[in-house]
Amino acid sequence: MPLTNKDMLGIEDLSPEEMELIFDTAESFKEVSAREIKKVPTLRGRTIINLFYEPSTRTRTSFEIAAKRMSADAINISVSTSSAVKGETLKDTARNLEAMKPDCIVVRHASAGTPEMLAKYLNCTVINAGDGAHEHPSQALLDIMTVREKKGRIEGLKVAIIGDIMHSRVARSNIVGFSRLGAEVVVTGPRTLIPVGIEELGCTVAPNTVTAIKDADVIMMLRIQLERQGDSFLPSLREYATLWGLDEEKLKYASDDVIILHPGPINRGVEISSGVADGEYSLILEQVTNGVAIRMALFYLLLGGTRESSA
Ligand code: CP
Repeated sequence: MPLTNKDMLGIEDLSPEEMELIFDTAESFKEVSAREIKKVPTLRGRTIINLFYEPSTRTRTSFEIAAKRMSADAINISVSTSSAVKGETLKDTARNLEAMKPDCIVVRHASAGTPEMLAKYLNCTVINAGDGAHEHPSQALLDIMTVREKKGRIEGLKVAIIGDIMHSRVARSNIVGFSRLGAEVVVTGPRTLIPVGIEELGCTVAPNTVTAIKDADVIMMLRIQLERQGDSFLPSLREYATLWGLDEEKLKYASDDVIILHPGPINRGVEISSGVADGEYSLILEQVTNGVAIRMALFYLLLGGTRESSA
């Protein structure tokens, strides 16, 4: 197997060489989505289950599209209509699903560590599609791929990540991924939303938005995760937008060829203005396009597709 582990649980587990292999593989699969017939036989006969315990638009859909473009059978489990609502434990649900012999289970869950726990119980491949505030590895991979495509490198870039760092699995995965590949990562946000010790992941903390984005090559804006916090972290959304939101005025402090990323979903007018989100520096929709390619690459590398069958 080209990757060390049978599962994709976090960026933490990936070496720089493995990340580069995933990006190169994703680049080669990206072209499939531009074809008139968007399908290759690479994973014919394989079964992939999407098990999402939290809402998702981009991640769930792109894992499903990636599986289908590779000719795998993709099954989506809606937890609200599954036996989880009758009290079945996650472990029992997963073991029952595995008894149907899938090759891969893609899981999103509100609790950090859920994919790791499943990977210990299950023989099939487990992919983490976001676990609590812990990791969202496929998101970070598609973010880094988008920057690599645009800038041609990661090493030496200044990457500013701004917003609700505390509750963001995207921030955690990106800090580890970008710093491991040689970027300088700076985070900022309200003091109440910057976890103590975040520097240990490979970043520095800036005191305000302007300091963070000054000369930044990449700015990643994050949504405030109101579903993971009470009201106590922020005085008001209006104040948040003024101090930490990105608009055209603050963008003037960034470098001339800055690129703007956001994992979505966007709260327009809160962490990012519509002018910036839809403006010339934004690669937000390119991130979504690359999400399909990254997920195809992960399936290919983890489930053992062959180059001959990918044409
Ligand atoms: N970026 C992301 O995880 O979006 P979804 O919640 O829509 O999957």
